Amino acid sequence: MYNFEYKNPTKILFGKGQIACISREVPGDARVMITFGGGSIRQNGVYDKVRAALGTRPVIDFGGIEPNPDHATLMRAVDEARTEKVDLLLAVGGGSVLDGTKFIAAAIRHPGDPWELVRKGGRGLQSAVPLGTVLTLPATGSESNPFAVISRRETGEKLAFSSPLLYPRFAVLDPETTFSLPTRQVANGVVDAFVHTFEQYMTYPVGAELQDRFAEAILSTLIEVGPVTLANPRDYESRANFMWTATLALNGLIGNGVPQDWATHTIGHELTALYGIDHARTLAVVLPHLLRVQSAGKAEKLLRYGARVWGISEGDNSGRVEEAVRRTETFFESLGIPTRLSTYEAAADTPARVARRLADRGTLPIGERQDIDADKITRILRASLS
Ligand code: NZQ
Ligand code: ZN
Repeated sequence: MYNFEYKNPTKILFGKGQIACISREVPGDARVMITFGGGSIRQNGVYDKVRAALGTRPVIDFGGIEPNPDHATLMRAVDEARTEKVDLLLAVGGGSVLDGTKFIAAAIRHPGDPWELVRKGGRGLQSAVPLGTVLTLPATGSESNPFAVISRRETGEKLAFSSPLLYPRFAVLDPETTFSLPTRQVANGVVDAFVHTFEQYMTYPVGAELQDRFAEAILSTLIEVGPVTLANPRDYESRANFMWTATLALNGLIGNGVPQDWATHTIGHELTALYGIDHARTLAVVLPHLLRVQSAGKAEKLLRYGARVWGISEGDNSGRVEEAVRRTETFFESLGIPTRLSTYEAAADTPARVARRLADRGTLPIGERQDIDADKITRILRASLS
């Protein structure tokens, strides 16, 4: 196992009715900016609960943060937060609202251009406004991690950045807030959490037995509760299991002391930037094809995954590896998530274009062995387009 340092400072407030606890977590004299998306929290009653918990504290609302949060929208929030002298940001929504709020938190006190900070992956951030979160869409793990992914439509970019200063102070995870989610977003969430686990698990063994077993438990739980929660949106127990599982998939725990991949995400972000495809849906059209192209380096883990998660015990090694990939594809498809880029209206030159964009930005090579170059990206996406 590799050396690691681990500190996750986000306090989790999990379960029914926990929104009321916000009153304990937010200082009584704080000037709070509530950030949210296109309005789902007004329709499902979450906004009213949050307002009630904040009591008489001065509150500034900033709504309209779009899926794949846009730099221009967020900069308007930054201006407003500076003018209003906001001292706590409360993000209420899915990953886009939470990520967007991390950008706002970082930008408010940043003396330079905040976009440069994003381009540098968050390096150089000295100070951030504290933030709390109320999660309404289990998927990204943003509620208790230091990452944010920001889009800039004006330049066609979608970039990730992070800083330990951006861990939320607290995260309210009330499964009832998710009852109103459209089926599509639930399926997206299951696949996103699944792929987060893969990025930290499906590499090569380094003797990290517990991390591997945690990862396998997360995958097995998603396979079990995913379809149940999709079919029964108001079933509290399955929603609760899904919500907690998605948080653990990307709160740092399973990634400690192990090699990590993240190539599927890096390629996927380009597909969202080019075509606006939902984040999780980009992952599903990349992952299976990447696993096949990378199967030699990942064989040991693919065999282990096949055996432990899917019970694959027959056939020779290459047959088992292919079966493990096929089961993964079938699982995504069973949730209504396509595994081929050809399902979307993507131009024939997309594989080369994505490879070139990443090469031009200096992002390549990627993968746990740093062996995914422009040529391999082209092969992966060609397989998905065929
Ligand atoms: O905007 P509103 O009206 O709230 O509607 C949202 C949005 O349209 C809706 N929604 C959320 N909660 C709801 C609800 N509708 C009804 N009831 C509820 N309870 O769902 C739609 C999608 O929301 P969004 O936040 O965009 O989805 P998600 O949570 O999947 O976030 C995706 C973003 O997170 C980034 C992605 O790249 C993408 O930009 N990621 C962030 C990561 C991180 N911070 O660690 C890691 C991920 O890999 C990912 O890259
Ligand atoms: Zn993701």
